[in-house]
Amino acid sequence: MISSEAAPFAKTGGLADVVGALPSALADFGDEAAVVLPRYRSIDLKSARRVWDKLYVHFGPRIFETNIYQAAAPFPVYLVDCPPLFDRPGLYGESGGMDFPDNHLRFAVFARAALGVARHLFRADVFHCHDWQAGLVPAYLRTTFSTDPTFLGCRTLFTIHNLGYQGLFPKSALAEVGLDAGLIRPDGMEFYGRVSFIKGGIAYADALSTVSPTYAREIQTPEYGFGLDGSLRARSADLSGILNGVDYREWSPEVDAHLPARYSAADLSGKAVCKRQLLAEFGLPENAIGRPLFGIVSRFTRQKGADLIAEAIGEIVALDGYLVALGTGEPEYEDFFRRIQGEFPGRVAVRIGFDNGLAHRIEAGADLFLMPSAYEPCGLNQIYSLRYGTVPVVRATGGLDDTIEEGTGFKFAAYSGEAFRDAIRAAAAAYADRTGWEAMMRRGMDKDFSWKASAAAYSALYRRMVSAR
Ligand code: ADP
Ligand code: GLC
Repeated sequence: MISSEAAPFAKTGGLADVVGALPSALADFGDEAAVVLPRYRSIDLKSARRVWDKLYVHFGPRIFETNIYQAAAPFPVYLVDCPPLFDRPGLYGESGGMDFPDNHLRFAVFARAALGVARHLFRADVFHCHDWQAGLVPAYLRTTFSTDPTFLGCRTLFTIHNLGYQGLFPKSALAEVGLDAGLIRPDGMEFYGRVSFIKGGIAYADALSTVSPTYAREIQTPEYGFGLDGSLRARSADLSGILNGVDYREWSPEVDAHLPARYSAADLSGKAVCKRQLLAEFGLPENAIGRPLFGIVSRFTRQKGADLIAEAIGEIVALDGYLVALGTGEPEYEDFFRRIQGEFPGRVAVRIGFDNGLAHRIEAGADLFLMPSAYEPCGLNQIYSLRYGTVPVVRATGGLDDTIEEGTGFKFAAYSGEAFRDAIRAAAAAYADRTGWEAMMRRGMDKDFSWKASAAAYSALYRRMVSAR
């Protein structure tokens, strides 16, 4: 697996959870998976060992020296160390949403080094490439290495976790990363006058997948296709939707070490302890304990529906509800959350930042979890919420539509403040009926979204790909 994130090493979102858990789940099906990851500044090499010295990547006259480390993990995790490119304060850019200007080089060197890992350290039948950061792997295999005996018969699967991030660069970037200008064409890597790394995956991978069945359909439509729906429709027969699983060893109130108390469907009493502690942690009044507490944990971007939160926050307060939110992202949306905290003191409490422990405590301590996403390839937080007995209120899109049903949560269809407010009102009314509410919590807690089914689907797909060669 070639990925720019994997928990617990490097994480900004759900991609890390997926790549951190899927390899172990695949082992149950007899598949041996290794992960290749850039060695970012935040990854400590103390418990890693150096397994390959001086793997060079040549792009014309430019040479990048990388060294490969293997991290201590339940499956092989190879870290590509190249300090000039990755020893920086963020994964993709400095804080504030600005990407590093040389991301094309960073992830091209990463892709080439990953192929080096496959050459020297871990022979792969399938390269499972995740998102645009790994999009050049299929492109290099089709071009630079098409006759290289090492990779003869190797297959590539490209998984789209989010079509909104495409890795777009000026056309001149292609030559800089050692790829032929011939790839700049609409059915190659061109995207409206630029070069698109995600199209390296879409055009040249043997198979494509995305992270829920509904999103697999949606991305083939203009509304959700981000300009790539045509390219995806052209590969419709090779595109599947495999729902993400959940690592319940990390995300389950019965074992969660981040919580002040543990609980289960059989004994919910610990959840009240978690709620009381969460109110205190956010400085909300103690007497909110009997009122509906809404939670948000999210990257603050347009995708996650902050516009709709803006239109519904008044309703939450009018219903005598409370809101806690944790997130980080685009300055515009961070400001928005700060603003509503100022507007509704003692009602709305916000933390700007990335805090895994707090994310767990919100999952446990809130009564309801809000995900009014404009689009959502899969979404993991709503699935975590189910297990924590925290009833999700979600927009019916992508994986949200595939995982939440009447009886376990509240769904609305139109991307409008009105539809969202209606769902919130319905949820608050349901909350008022204690018996019905607990039954709903328990139905959600009983759902099983563990990795088993999803890993089986990936394993079957890998096997089909390999037997087709
Ligand atoms: P996405 O990948 O689009 O961000 P997901 O729902 O798939 O959405 O996954 C988000 C993951 O990132 C979850 O594990 C969530 O808990 C975590 N997360 C998001 N924002 C934060 C944050 N500010 N602090 C801690 N964890 C966060
Ligand atoms: C992306 C998507 C999210 C999905 C995650 C893991 O970041 O936004 O919906 O759950 O990837 O696949």
